[in-house]
Amino acid sequence: MTDVKAPAPEARSTGTVLGPEFATGSGPWLYTEDGTAWFDGTSGSGAATLGHQHPAVTAAAARQLGRLTHTGCKLGSDARTRMVRALGRISPYDDPAVLPTTTGAEAVESALKIARAVTGHRAVVAFRHGYHGKTAGALALTWRASFKAYSGPATGSVVRADLPDPRRPGPDDARDFAAALSAALDEADLLGGTAAVVLEPVQVTEGVLAVAPALLDEIARQAHRRGALLVLDEIYTGLGRAGRMFTAETMTERPDLTLLGKTLGNGFPVAAVVGERHVVDALPAGVQTSTFSGHPVSCAAAAAVLDTVVALDLPARSRALGARLGTDLAGLADTHPWISAVRTAGALAAFDCVRDGLPDPARARAVLRAALDGRLLLFGGGPEDATVKIVPPALLDDEAYRHLMNGLAAAVTAADSWSEESL
Ligand SMILES: Cc1ncc(COP(=O)(O)O)c(C=O)c1O
Repeated sequence: MTDVKAPAPEARSTGTVLGPEFATGSGPWLYTEDGTAWFDGTSGSGAATLGHQHPAVTAAAARQLGRLTHTGCKLGSDARTRMVRALGRISPYDDPAVLPTTTGAEAVESALKIARAVTGHRAVVAFRHGYHGKTAGALALTWRASFKAYSGPATGSVVRADLPDPRRPGPDDARDFAAALSAALDEADLLGGTAAVVLEPVQVTEGVLAVAPALLDEIARQAHRRGALLVLDEIYTGLGRAGRMFTAETMTERPDLTLLGKTLGNGFPVAAVVGERHVVDALPAGVQTSTFSGHPVSCAAAAAVLDTVVALDLPARSRALGARLGTDLAGLADTHPWISAVRTAGALAAFDCVRDGLPDPARARAVLRAALDGRLLLFGGGPEDATVKIVPPALLDDEAYRHLMNGLAAAVTAADSWSEESL
């Protein structure tokens, strides 16, 4: 034992993977202590949709900090009531109830419990390329195998169905998918009945893969025919990020539960399950709580986010940004033929890197590396790890937008001539 310990590093599992240590933020910008600006094309894991330090949100949180910071989940606060009411008011439900949680994964866990309480069934159908979080129940629904290596047995049985890949549409996609989903539901029914079908309407983490509206209704119809709940995981897409407040607006059938997170707190840790009260309240009192659920500061921030999202018409702002990004990325693809499958969904954009028609993960890494050299923070990913994702805050002024596009253009130009050694 020495007297002086070395400074503790953060665990490898949670340690940061991109850029330096940041000290301040504003809109799409993050700044290091010496004032160097970086463009956040990740929106802080998709949460800072209104931009970092949005004044209405930070002011509401600061006010709450001065009044009441913590009650514990079993005692109420006016901030919590405000958030619950504001979310219920704009939700697609007639007589809504809101179950607040701290993280998105916790909202997924809660939805699974509600679905099992409502149906008395245990099995769940999830989809290829879905991401739902990393706690045990949510992870069982998540597609990517590498996240699961150290996980225990799933709680309840999960059957996975293949969604058609929107990057490679085929003429029989809808018919084949209907049959695959039906087979998955058959299998789930044999495992003691299907409690829920859980779907990300745009699979953002695995590369902004949007589910076609006709398929959304097919999924809802098949789930309901089996007596299962349709759970839409809108933790990434909801509240305007994907160009609509809720995906329910685009459907003829209604999802039974809608999960929200990320944008809901614009950086404060808060997520929620929303549904009709008789559905949400199938879960008895106390079954799903955690110390910080309904945290007053997060709820005060979320109430301000909800007001701002409505006042600014965030869905329309996201659609406008997505349209601009789509056009400009298509322009980049014209001059860099290895860019393929440009796609947008509101303020979410992505493209794939290909070589001889095959996914090219090394080129995607080269783009991300070159972007980083230009102080532009972007995430990669996608089913083949060959995708570049662009997830900026939705409220970009012209100057910030041009900075983003110039940074992207410079990064793809640098990646034209990447070499293995430079990675
Ligand atoms: C669609 C979706 N569901 C669930 C989660 C998990 O949320 P959290 O990371 O807050 O636990 C995420 C996180 O990226 C997500 O994108």
